[in-house]
Amino acid sequence: MSYQASPFAQGVLVQMMHAYSAYVFSPYRIAKELGLVTPNISGQPPKPNPRKGLGKYFSQHYKRPLMMTQASQHDHLVEEFDRMGEIYDAYVRPFSTPLMDEAVHALEPYIDRRFRIMDAGCGCGREVCRMSRLVPEGEVVGIDLAAGMVNAAQRAAHAKGFDNTAFVQSDVGQLPTEFNGKFDMVYSSLAHHHYPNPGAATQAIFNCLRPGGIYAVIDAGPEWFVKSSSPIAAWSDPGWIGFHTPKQFTDLFSNAGFEQCGWIGLVPGFGIAIAQKPDS
Ligand SMILES: C[S@@+](CC[C@H](N)C(=O)[O-])C[C@H]1O[C@@H](n2cnc3c(N)ncnc32)[C@H](O)[C@@H]1O
Repeated sequence: MSYQASPFAQGVLVQMMHAYSAYVFSPYRIAKELGLVTPNISGQPPKPNPRKGLGKYFSQHYKRPLMMTQASQHDHLVEEFDRMGEIYDAYVRPFSTPLMDEAVHALEPYIDRRFRIMDAGCGCGREVCRMSRLVPEGEVVGIDLAAGMVNAAQRAAHAKGFDNTAFVQSDVGQLPTEFNGKFDMVYSSLAHHHYPNPGAATQAIFNCLRPGGIYAVIDAGPEWFVKSSSPIAAWSDPGWIGFHTPKQFTDLFSNAGFEQCGWIGLVPGFGIAIAQKPDS
């Protein structure tokens, strides 16, 4: 059994996220726009140099979400997400929209319009749809362990006409073998701290990337934020496993075989841990 946050604790978390977005993200983004602050970049992030992407495949073969036929040992960790598929977006949008605005801006130079991209822990699919606009000749495949999220994501993408998307129910640590070597980029948005086995997830994602492919984790990161926010996250965030510092991300990525590991700060407390699969 895992600890499950109470509805009261989850309510506190949502209010805190909205307040943090309004009182920290917003002023910071204005200061950044005015050139008054510069986000921190550390380590050795890969240089943006996108090659021609792998193009469409899964969106043409999976017109319906591909669901798991067997239960996963981690299903209990996503029970709350499973229930919240249709309403999740309304709670997190004020927080995740400005963060993802910054992330898309930072990732765009790495992306070719034919890229085949995976969103690992895609939730209700909002970022999948958004990223799919950057790859009109490619596609974005959202994977998530929670069936409720996968179904909600597919319905939303389909209703809005995002044809270059596909959705697969999977544990990020046990991705389908047919994904091996089939992606130009894998990203995750606010999902990495829910992965029950970050080492297995990183290795599985490494296997899914083509040589030279990019892995980008958008999540909490700097040590000051990880230390100060972990107790409240453990109390209030359903299925929370743990944040990583930029240094811990570098170790995780290097152990899986990635190189050019670095941290691109986005807004206070959050950034992109990024790395590249070796070319050969
Ligand atoms: C906080 S939500 C983030 C959703 C979305 N990426 C966003 O930014 O709105 C975390 C997501 O990770 C998924 N998740 C948690 N553990 C997972 C696992 N082991 N494999 C795949 N998805 C997982 C959850 O079901 C949930 O949808």
